[in-house]
Order: sequence, then structure tokens, then C-alpha cells
Amino acid sequence: MRDKIVAGNWKMNLTFEQALQLANDVNTWVAENKTDAKVIIAPSSIYLQAIQETVDEQFVQVASQDVSNAEKGAYTGDISAEQLDSIGINTAIVGHSERREYQQETDEVIAKKLEQLFAKDITPIFCVGEKLEEREADKHFEVVKTQILNALNPQQVENLSKLVIAYEPVWAIGTGVTASPAQAQEIHAYIRTVLKDAYGEKIAEETSILYGGSVNAQNAKEIFSQPDIDGGLVGGASLKYDDFVQIIAACK
Ligand code: 13P
Repeated sequence: MRDKIVAGNWKMNLTFEQALQLANDVNTWVAENKTDAKVIIAPSSIYLQAIQETVDEQFVQVASQDVSNAEKGAYTGDISAEQLDSIGINTAIVGHSERREYQQETDEVIAKKLEQLFAKDITPIFCVGEKLEEREADKHFEVVKTQILNALNPQQVENLSKLVIAYEPVWAIGTGVTASPAQAQEIHAYIRTVLKDAYGEKIAEETSILYGGSVNAQNAKEIFSQPDIDGGLVGGASLKYDDFVQIIAACK
């Protein structure tokens, strides 16, 4: 059985006080409600440790929004997989389209980040997804396949059992435009065939593939009910307590 997961990517939002409050509220809700989904929140890195201490990991897990591609050393501002591991962080988002776009992260850099995470046994939430012009040119399958194959070395098959993939079409992120459930299902099923061909049936069947891009309390249920969609990576709506807990409840 694949894990069902709802992960909130808080991006560069919330003051420390707001972040602690939201983490606490979500933790309390999950503790009081039976949920099928594993719940993850990814705050800004300066809050990681405090939030990690605030929540109970049996209810809410805390993820980093990124990791360095280097192991250690003179990389001002970066945070290594070893440093995340040393404060008990066991999940990290990697390859988010905002980092690909604004920090010029290439597939090659993302491959190194994944290697760093695997070396420390940290679960990557590895993001892939096409831009609007690529979707319009009918290149979305090819783009997503290339992003996966460039970043995941087949020799890492033993590590891939930890992998989570998030399909986030760039045109749906923060725009209020969601991929239709059928569009999302189509490409999630395709991602599974890419995984099967490259890394084997077991990895394909066991990897949770999340959808991200304008998931909200209204559309979550239908998106999550698709057979190859195992939950969501949620941006804007994860910052609003009422919306986020409804999204968690919709993931069955
Ligand atoms: P929105 O849910 O705000 O569209 O963001 C999605 C996202 O980028 C999550 O990583």
C-alpha cells in the first residue's frame, strides 16, 4: 500500500509566531481526528527546529523546503542533508519549480540534492512538472519524463523506496487554475509507467505521487480520488488552518 500524504509547503510565508500557532493547531486537529493521510508541513528553514519541537511526529512531520547539493563546506546560506538529519528532519522538498525558476536549479543540481538526501536517509518530495508553453505544445509527458530520468540514477534503486514524487504543473501553481482530475490522473499514471520502465514494477507501485497546484478545500476530494494520485503538495491553502484540515480530511 502506498502512503497517502498531504504536505503543506509554506514557502516564504508566516512570521515565527504565526508559524508556531499554525503548526500547533494542525497538530491538535490531526491528534483529534482520525486521518488516513500522513501530514507533513514544510516551514522556512529558520523555524524547522522550533516547529519540530512543537508538533508530535506521530501526527505531523516537519520537512525542509530544500537542501544543498553539496555535502559540507563553504556554501554560504546553504543547509546540508547532514545538518537536517542532525536536528531530526527526515523529509525534504527538492526540485520545486520555484527553485528551478528563480535559483536556476538544473536537473543536474537536483540529482545531486537527491543523492545528498538519500545518503542521509531523508525522504525527498521530488517535484516535477511542465510550464504552460510546454503543456500547450503537448510536451508535458516528455518534460516530466526527462526531469525524472535526469535526476534519478537507476543505480539508486534501493534508495528509491523512500522517494515521494510531486507532480506540480507550473501553470497551476498559485494561479487558482488546477489541472482537471482527469489531466492530473493521466500524467500521474504516466509517471508510474516511467518509474516502472526505469526502476522496476515495485518502485512504480510503491511510490506515492502527489499532485500540487492550486489544491483547495473544494477540489481536493475529487483530485485525491483518482487512482494514481496519492495526496497533495499544497501551497497557499496550507497557510489557512480551516482549508488545510479540510484538505487533509479529503485525502482517503
Ligand atoms: P499552490 O497550492 O499555492 O498553487 O502551490 C503549490 C505548490 O507549489 C506547492 O509546492
